[in-house]
Amino acid sequence: MLDKPRKLLVTSGLPYVNGSPHMGHLVEYLQSDIWVRFQKLRGQDCIYVCASDAHGTPIMLKAREQGVSPEELTARVTREFVDVFDEFDIEFDNFHTTHSPENEALTIEMFEALRSTGDIYTKTIEQAFDEKEGMFLPDRFVRGTCPRCKTEDQYGDACENCGATYAPTDLIDPVSVLSGSAPVKRESEHYFFRLSEYEDRLRTWMREATLDKNILAKLEEWFEAGLQDWDISRDAPYFGFRIPGTEDKYFYVWLDAPIGYVSSFKNLCDRRGDLDFDEYWRPGHDTEVFHFIGKDIMYFHTLFWPAVLQGAGFRTPTSVFAHGFLTVNGQKMSKSRGTFINARTYLDNLHPAYLRYYYAAKLGPTIEDIDLNLDDFVARVNSDLVGKLINIASRCAGFINKRFDNVLGDSLPEPGLFAEFAAAADAIANHYEAREYSKAMRLIMALADQANRYIDDNKPWVMIKTQDKVDEVQAVCTQGLNLFRSLMIYLAPVIPSVAADARAFFGEAEWAWSNVKDPLLGAHIEKFRPLLTRVETAQVENIVEQSKHSKEGSEAVTEDESDTPTISIDDFAKVDMRVARIEKAEAVEGADKLLALTLDLGGAERNVFAGIKSAYEPASLVGRHVIVVANLAPRKMRFGVSEGMVLAAGPGGEDIFLLSPDDGAEAGMRVK
Ligand code: 2FM
Ligand code: ZN
Repeated sequence: MLDKPRKLLVTSGLPYVNGSPHMGHLVEYLQSDIWVRFQKLRGQDCIYVCASDAHGTPIMLKAREQGVSPEELTARVTREFVDVFDEFDIEFDNFHTTHSPENEALTIEMFEALRSTGDIYTKTIEQAFDEKEGMFLPDRFVRGTCPRCKTEDQYGDACENCGATYAPTDLIDPVSVLSGSAPVKRESEHYFFRLSEYEDRLRTWMREATLDKNILAKLEEWFEAGLQDWDISRDAPYFGFRIPGTEDKYFYVWLDAPIGYVSSFKNLCDRRGDLDFDEYWRPGHDTEVFHFIGKDIMYFHTLFWPAVLQGAGFRTPTSVFAHGFLTVNGQKMSKSRGTFINARTYLDNLHPAYLRYYYAAKLGPTIEDIDLNLDDFVARVNSDLVGKLINIASRCAGFINKRFDNVLGDSLPEPGLFAEFAAAADAIANHYEAREYSKAMRLIMALADQANRYIDDNKPWVMIKTQDKVDEVQAVCTQGLNLFRSLMIYLAPVIPSVAADARAFFGEAEWAWSNVKDPLLGAHIEKFRPLLTRVETAQVENIVEQSKHSKEGSEAVTEDESDTPTISIDDFAKVDMRVARIEKAEAVEGADKLLALTLDLGGAERNVFAGIKSAYEPASLVGRHVIVVANLAPRKMRFGVSEGMVLAAGPGGEDIFLLSPDDGAEAGMRVK
């Protein structure tokens, strides 16, 4: 046991409730859960809190779209996250929500404290307003042409083509993504936080906090660019907390979201009764506070958040740990490729330990992205966890169970080897502490190789056949199982449920990090059952297949989670699809793929070029009904003008299938 345990408070980023938990989310929660479990195993007093992030326009609109209240959406999705976390062995001491009385009280407390010191002021600003929807539009809800490079269809905050940043009101021909109408400029009074006054204090914090070099570099960059005051209010309609003294102004979600860390902890204090809130959140205590976050939200956590805390009389974080994004098979997760994998789909098919181990084997302390390569996942898990680790126990346990009445030997034949394993404890611990999990896993697996070599060299399955060597079998297997036990203790933060089963097999009530120092001897062990089986490629293929077709639990692939840009229902309504009868079909001279079709749209005749030559004989098409987009602007092609588009589906070549209306359709009928 440690003389005086450190008091640690750890948080993970709060998930928005407009999407279901997926493999990308899990990087962060697994990274932090492993760290917390490691600290607890080492005897530190570590508390881990989180909450759902309930507020903001996207959530308000998502709820509206689903015909539920934002509160209902929050409750449902929070439950979904809690269940998934539970099944992935992510063990929070508290999981709350930002839409809570504690969070409202703390947000108002911090706001009032900042206002009393003059750090909050109001200013009238001009913003994009959607008159049809009757609301101000967040930057991302306005699209238009980039004022700099003139690329069309860019978001209201930045151009994806030239990287320019601007206000939505700067866009050329802006359009509201909600209604499709052109937003107007409208004035409104907003509340601002004087971040610009905080540079010195933030620089002091930055020196004292133990920040990684990539975060320090970013901070330097931001300081150089100059800190801008921060708009912390939004106009109604908005899902959030109303600003005291106003009728229609709300706190911006990013003000109350990190306060969710504090309020989740407050909620835990109220439930537990043995925690001192001030010790964790007021200055002057040696308690440590750590935030695990994604690299995209560093600005909020290393500038706004410490400044708000300082200004409001709260303590600042000891450190902020940022991680990179997840790619799957080297690319952004994609629904069509089946690599946008929901946590639930994974759990329906595979044991959580596989993913926990795989992520740990890949994770380091930097903001570098990590890749979940599905073939590598199968190979790595089978080779390391099953082939190396579990195999040690499988090769030794049966002999102790069957031939030695489940009892381990009284001494180790090779105490030096056991001591070598114990001596690795500090190096492994240092890696965990520094979030160098991939290095920790490499060290542990190198030890597993050593343990397997020991068993290979001694061959208990040969010894058992020789009468005078039977006792040696007990000794060798006791040695092997003790090495396995040490490895399982080292891996307990990563694969806790497997470690718990291993602990039960050894008949031990609890494990601490220090248990690797002493071997388990003369003890009664339980009957061994394989703790993990191999991952089959078919299981992973299943996940990919299911991911292609799955509807999310909360039916929410948010804009930045999907790699296909979406169109609104209003955009879709603009498409005029009609039934057409093919009157004439002929090949086009000089065109490999095109057929020239003459279509009857119920009186009106149209000429359309269709790229379906590889799949259809022209003669077979005459008289056939097809679906055509009738209001497509005429396009001048090399062979003539095309006056519409015939709809077809399929991968191409011979596999192109014209979409046919149901029997009985008449040319000219609208499809909808
Ligand atoms: O980026 C996000 O997903 C936010 N919901 C994270 C919030 S973390 C904290 F500040 F609340
Ligand atoms: Zn541009």
